[in-house]
Amino acid sequence: YLLGLDIGTTGARALLCDENGQVLVVATAEYPLSTPQPLWSEQNPEDWWRGACEALRTVVVQAGVAPEQIAGLGLTGQMHGSVFLDEQDRVLRPALLWNDQRTAAECAEITQRVGAERLIAIAGNPALTGFQAPKILWLRNHEPEHYARVAQVLLPKDYIRRKLTGISATDAADAAGTLLLDLRRRDWSAEILAALDIPRAWLPRVFEGPEVTGGLLTEVATDLGLPAGLPVIAGGGDNAAAAVGSGIVQPGIVSSSIGTSGVIFAHSDEIALDPQGRLHTFCHSVPGRYHLMAVTLAAGGSFRWFRDTLRAVAGQNLGYDDLTALAASVSPGAEGLIFLPYLSGERTPHLDPLARGAFIGLTARHTLAHMARAVMEGVVFSLRDGLEIMRSLGIAPAQIRATGGGGKSPLWRQMQADIYATDVATLAAEEGPAYGAALLAGVGAGVFQDVDDAVARCVRLTTTTKPDDRAVVRYDEVYAIYRDMYAILCSGMH
Ligand code: XUL
Repeated sequence: YLLGLDIGTTGARALLCDENGQVLVVATAEYPLSTPQPLWSEQNPEDWWRGACEALRTVVVQAGVAPEQIAGLGLTGQMHGSVFLDEQDRVLRPALLWNDQRTAAECAEITQRVGAERLIAIAGNPALTGFQAPKILWLRNHEPEHYARVAQVLLPKDYIRRKLTGISATDAADAAGTLLLDLRRRDWSAEILAALDIPRAWLPRVFEGPEVTGGLLTEVATDLGLPAGLPVIAGGGDNAAAAVGSGIVQPGIVSSSIGTSGVIFAHSDEIALDPQGRLHTFCHSVPGRYHLMAVTLAAGGSFRWFRDTLRAVAGQNLGYDDLTALAASVSPGAEGLIFLPYLSGERTPHLDPLARGAFIGLTARHTLAHMARAVMEGVVFSLRDGLEIMRSLGIAPAQIRATGGGGKSPLWRQMQADIYATDVATLAAEEGPAYGAALLAGVGAGVFQDVDDAVARCVRLTTTTKPDDRAVVRYDEVYAIYRDMYAILCSGMH
């Protein structure tokens, strides 16, 4: 059996599956998130540890399998966060998370010290507020008393690894989200560390996703009901690990996830960089490989906003299914009504935290049904923006795997097939990052030969949706208008 552990933003999720990828038990334990000031987003690493232990203990008890039959534990978690530890491994302050926006000045400082082009050439990405490096500079600039005591900086799941094994280690996929990694060498960049004056000794050793990083400490093992010395595998950042669980481990297969945010994720054998830095380029959890990622901040979040606003303003007690049925009664393109989903600003392609959403093209003919359809279509257009940049870098998707809420809705699947002009498939087991971490554990523990073997044995597809030729043509026309709208409408708003 294989264990996966995901240190998510809302909670820890532990999962046990067998060696065919069949999921037997899943357990979660929630923890709080605090916003002590506007733009700040923090969590207590000790809360992650409590959550991780609780979720693991529950899985072990409920699974009813002999602990010695468990071959390995793979780790994954929210990316980019910063855990600052002192010499005695004590947490110096709450961790700054991936969605913390306080570091705009530090991003400018990084760009100035390293140089915008060098940053993209070495680390694959421009300085974005969410990444880890600007958080380290923020501590230096704003809390020098803490900074003076820093002995280690870890990513969220790697703090849990330290507690589980006593070892400081990370994986190339998650490390790539710090902005301190040399993506080609898959190790820390001496040039960036020197330019930012960050000691290399603070950073853990970098492993490939399926490598064993250490064994479970005896006292922790006893407490969790797991075998002492259980191999703990490097794993990956949550997006890369989830991609392993969705089988996005070879060229030509891309995933389109519509959760609160939306992500287009593509595997790439070689490093592929957008010179404008609109896409994220990170190492993959597949050894030596890379991935590209486009992030739309309000995807399912836009649809939820629409549902909740109707409830609050019009007292309409409509759920997602009602709204989807209404949307299905309108033809592709919503008779000229277009929605821009930038309700929470936007990452890809605009990199603009201040971007705003809009309905464009309203007429007296338009109804609630058109608006519902326009919201769903706008989310997919926004993801297509990311896909088009990937296509311009040579990614040629033959199949797109739809996950999250956008994969569950047949209408949203058809829209994706039509707007991407590509077959859209769904997965039998959609268990997210913890599942991918368990598969990586299987590779590390020798159950599978490599990541491809794990995917071939465990990842199965269910439905395939084909694009409709007429809808593809119609959507191309609407998309051509959509993609001009941000520049026309939003750039003047701030
Ligand atoms: C990726 C990102 C998020 C976090 C959330 O760049 O910021 O997906 O990993 O868990």
